[in-house]
Amino acid sequence: MLVNLENRYRLPARLARARARIGLLFAKLVNRYMKSIKMARLQRGFDETFSKMAESPTWEALCCQVFDQYVGQLSFTPVTQIHLLVEKLHITSQSHVLELAPGTGGLSLYLAKVSGCRLTGLDISPVAVKTAKKQAMLQGMSERVNFEVGILPELPYQQSSFDVVISIDSVYGILDKSALFHGCYRVLRPGGYLGFYTLYKRRKFYAESVMHARALHWFPLQPYSKLLEEADFKDILKMDLTADFVRLAKQWVKAIQENRASLDKELGKKMTKGLLAGDIRTAWALATEGYVGRALFKAQKPLHGEWHSTLQVSACC
Ligand SMILES: C[S@@+](CC[C@H](N)C(=O)[O-])C[C@H]1O[C@@H](n2cnc3c(N)ncnc32)[C@H](O)[C@@H]1O
Repeated sequence: MLVNLENRYRLPARLARARARIGLLFAKLVNRYMKSIKMARLQRGFDETFSKMAESPTWEALCCQVFDQYVGQLSFTPVTQIHLLVEKLHITSQSHVLELAPGTGGLSLYLAKVSGCRLTGLDISPVAVKTAKKQAMLQGMSERVNFEVGILPELPYQQSSFDVVISIDSVYGILDKSALFHGCYRVLRPGGYLGFYTLYKRRKFYAESVMHARALHWFPLQPYSKLLEEADFKDILKMDLTADFVRLAKQWVKAIQENRASLDKELGKKMTKGLLAGDIRTAWALATEGYVGRALFKAQKPLHGEWHSTLQVSACC
């Protein structure tokens, strides 16, 4: 009896392919689910931090002490660095600016006030966005300044919608920077500018705390330039601001130490300890020892820069 070998083996091969496809789909679903859990946790963390800070008079007094002019910044940014952005990125009253991760919007509103620009902010934290919107209303700027909840690197905007994209001390925490920069290129008009302040790694070190472990994943300067080039940006400029960062972080650590008792009461011991032993202190320590720094990046989308959909990278990280 003749056996049709071809048919006998075709079915298992098809089955194997189907099984592989189902396996892949399953892995993708699990991956997406894990990511959404991670994002929800990140969102909750920021929401909790912002809610507590908003209700702490000591935190506010401390920030006023640290900054020459405190406008609600949640980063290592004196207002002079907002003026620097305005100048370097040619922001005017005609510009529409997209700000990635503006937090509670203090610096965004300052930028809009001094330049007269229109601004849209996109942040993961609903609490931050609500606070920022309220501030925009109180300062009479709701007409031209708006804040929305969204998760980077996804940018839910049309191609060529903005003249300028900015970000302050947030890009270093976004895992898929390539997707982010491609997205920035897409939403910028030809000739538009991208500018961001970021912490970066200067040399290798070993993880001795949670913050050390996080900072291990920060990028050195060179890969930033490379990713910007790969996203087709031109005229990439870097400006090192580590010295200002070290000075500010040191003042911050000192102020937190001096106000420890009140902060413990208002923010809770866990959060104060996190600030003292965690983010700010470690960033300062690492910066003082030359392991991390802070820089401004500026890049331009060429005047004849087109967005090619083939370049499109998955919006998810
Ligand atoms: C250090 S704060 C800086 C806030 C503001 N740029 C400033 O300088 O005052 C970092 C901000 O990034 C936001 N953020 C973190 N991960 C994000 C993500 N994946 N998508 C959108 N926002 C994010 C946080 O909610 C927070 O407001």
